[in-house]
Amino acid sequence: MSFPVHRPRRLRRNELLRSFVRETRLGTEGLVYPMFVGPGTRVRNEVRSMPGIYQQSVDQLLEECREVEQLGIPAVILFGLPERKDERGTEAHAATGTVQRAIEAIRRANLKLLVITDVCLCEYTSHGHCGVVEEGEVLNDPTLEILAETALSHARAGADIVAPSDMMDGRVGAIRRKLDAHGFAQVAILSYAAKYCSGFYGPFREAAQSAPQFGDRRSYQMDPANAREALREVALDLEEGADLVMVKPALPYLDVIRLVRERFAVPVAAYNVSGEYAMVKAAAQNGWLDEQRVVLEILTGIRRAGADIILTYHAKDVARWLKAC
Ligand code: PBG
Repeated sequence: MSFPVHRPRRLRRNELLRSFVRETRLGTEGLVYPMFVGPGTRVRNEVRSMPGIYQQSVDQLLEECREVEQLGIPAVILFGLPERKDERGTEAHAATGTVQRAIEAIRRANLKLLVITDVCLCEYTSHGHCGVVEEGEVLNDPTLEILAETALSHARAGADIVAPSDMMDGRVGAIRRKLDAHGFAQVAILSYAAKYCSGFYGPFREAAQSAPQFGDRRSYQMDPANAREALREVALDLEEGADLVMVKPALPYLDVIRLVRERFAVPVAAYNVSGEYAMVKAAAQNGWLDEQRVVLEILTGIRRAGADIILTYHAKDVARWLKAC
């Protein structure tokens, strides 16, 4: 029995019916807004390739966090720009670093926001790599202690969740042990478990001033052609103690999000990265795409693929649009 008995269009006749049978609902609950914090006061510089996104000082960041809270977005993820870079990314774990001071300011203001911090060295190292470099090689094991110290400094400042994005082997375990040894067993780890070596991070590297000064990240970030390997990365991070796992970027890796969702019973996050944001913004500014329509479609697609949590620079706009609906 088929047409004319079956008519899928019956359930598409009007918005009441369509929303009644809708499978994927986009709300603000799982959104995370990424923010860049740097030194100084009253600094607020728009990132050229990311309209609407700023590098800003702690005071300005706090003002924007109030707005984020009011919009009903539950979480922010913080990226730091240091005063000074060095070979070993020392400022990443300074108690008085920009990220640490930003976390403290958000905590003092008593905002109803989950504070997630990116744990990595690339913004803090003079060479722009995510780990310690010797003779042109990014060294794995010597990097782990610095990452763990960085996560600990974020926990001490009041972070709820630390998110290692460096892709060194064993970093989740090193961070878990360090946090537990210092009384921070309650701080969760969101691991960038399947992080691909992607061209879509271009605008972020301008925002975070973190482009590698030589070579690329192919010896630590994943090959875009591999999906099975993502499952291995996720399994290892969960064994080491990750509480939530991330797939990054989102759009070219929807299949990976789906695979991870089906295989593991933990919250899955997807990072709708800077290049994905920049493409939409550029096309919208040219009048080539309807921004609201495509952003909601993109985020619905990421959610439909299986992401519970979405990190996106569109978060504030989406919250406003959903409120207006
Ligand atoms: C740091 C880091 C990067 C991103 C998040 N954390 C850049 C990179 O790996 O080069 C990218 C985020 C984005 O593009 O929005 N390792």
